[in-house]
Amino acid sequence: MKDIIKVGIIGTGFIGPAHIEAIRRLGFVRVEAIAEHGLERAQSLAEKLSIPKAYGDYREMLNDPDIDVVHNCTPNHLHYGINKEIMQAGKHVLSEKPLAMNSEESAELLRLAKQYGIVHGVNFNYRKYPMMKQVSEMVKHGELGKVNLVHGSYQQDWLLYDTDFNWRLAKDVGGKSRAIADIGSHWCDTVQYVTGKKIVEVFSDLWTVHPIRKKPMAIGATYSRESQNNIDYEPVEVSTEDYGSVLIHLEDGSRGVFTVSQVSAGRKNRLSFELNGSQKSVFWDQEEPGQLWIGHRDQPNQRLTADPALFHDGAKSSIHHPGGHTEGWPDSIKNMMLGFYTFIREGKNPLHDITDFATFKDGHFSMCITDAILQSHEQKKWVTVQQHS
Ligand SMILES: NC(=O)c1ccc[n+]([C@@H]2O[C@H](COP(=O)([O-])OP(=O)(O)OC[C@H]3O[C@@H](n4cnc5c(N)ncnc54)[C@H](O)[C@@H]3O)[C@@H](O)[C@H]2O)c1
Repeated sequence: MKDIIKVGIIGTGFIGPAHIEAIRRLGFVRVEAIAEHGLERAQSLAEKLSIPKAYGDYREMLNDPDIDVVHNCTPNHLHYGINKEIMQAGKHVLSEKPLAMNSEESAELLRLAKQYGIVHGVNFNYRKYPMMKQVSEMVKHGELGKVNLVHGSYQQDWLLYDTDFNWRLAKDVGGKSRAIADIGSHWCDTVQYVTGKKIVEVFSDLWTVHPIRKKPMAIGATYSRESQNNIDYEPVEVSTEDYGSVLIHLEDGSRGVFTVSQVSAGRKNRLSFELNGSQKSVFWDQEEPGQLWIGHRDQPNQRLTADPALFHDGAKSSIHHPGGHTEGWPDSIKNMMLGFYTFIREGKNPLHDITDFATFKDGHFSMCITDAILQSHEQKKWVTVQQHS
């Protein structure tokens, strides 16, 4: 592989610029081009961020022989088609989650990724926090004993009011599931990563708190507050869930439950979980990412502050600063990029080599969980997670 890997980014709303920033911190990868919905928008951001090339149509970027890797940072309904075209153009692909709109589509993407032999990743970045690597090492070393229970939640408040609006609310753009696919997917990926166990059965209850929302005439980027200041709006029906609670069974018989909500005032981006093992418990909240609560029965509980000197050897490479120099959300994305681009730089092959980041296989499994959760809610019963292939 070349010394400098050249990258194109499609979609530059909320997450696209976060990818660009993270890539730039690596040093051996260059953001060569961006593609947006319209040339003017692409050129304006390219100029602001000193990116050499701007495209108003992502297909032109896919024809650019200088580009080695393409990131898909567009809304959900475009993931399947664009990911497919990226692979057909012979480029490596890093897609945002959810990988597709359903598990049939994601199965096809996984099959094509194997067929084309390209490197494929999905930005499940929460598993890339240094503390998540440490927890996975603690579990692997048997420090918690047998992990029996896994429970937690992912809560946000940016869709609390019926005047809050975003493309994620529309089923044909965001998908049939919203809170589960958008944030529950991160929760499931993270707990499966730290426990090393897959979710195999689900029983869910979903609810749309605001079945009618007031759609502003002008909609800003994700998480922007423009909507609340805008007085011109139209009522629209919303069928995707604002809230969901899901009972889960993991493959080793351990059990758990999680709640997702995008209408929980005061909870900005609170992905949290607790593992209860036969010896110890741990609790983590991504809003305080450098802290891990460790629970004991026969001695006082502890609080571990992220510190390479206190981490397991296997977790040391995931933390880049001394203790107390807290690494957060942007750093988790940097860690995602570091794993993905080191894999490419070292010329590794996703068909044979172990990846240190979430791939289309994980993205597809995540879609299978979402499909099972939707089915469980509709049928009011336990559903087995089926892996379509
Ligand atoms: N991993 C994470 O933590 C995380 C966080 C936020 C969003 N996401 C995911 O990232 C994706 C984008 O979300 P967002 O919040 O950035 O949305 P956004 O609406 O803020 O940005 C999407 C961008 O895509 C552009 N776009 C739309 N169609 C396009 C096309 N045909 N060609 C090029 N650009 C096009 C839009 O103009 C917009 O700039 C979603 O799938 C979401 O699930 C992931």
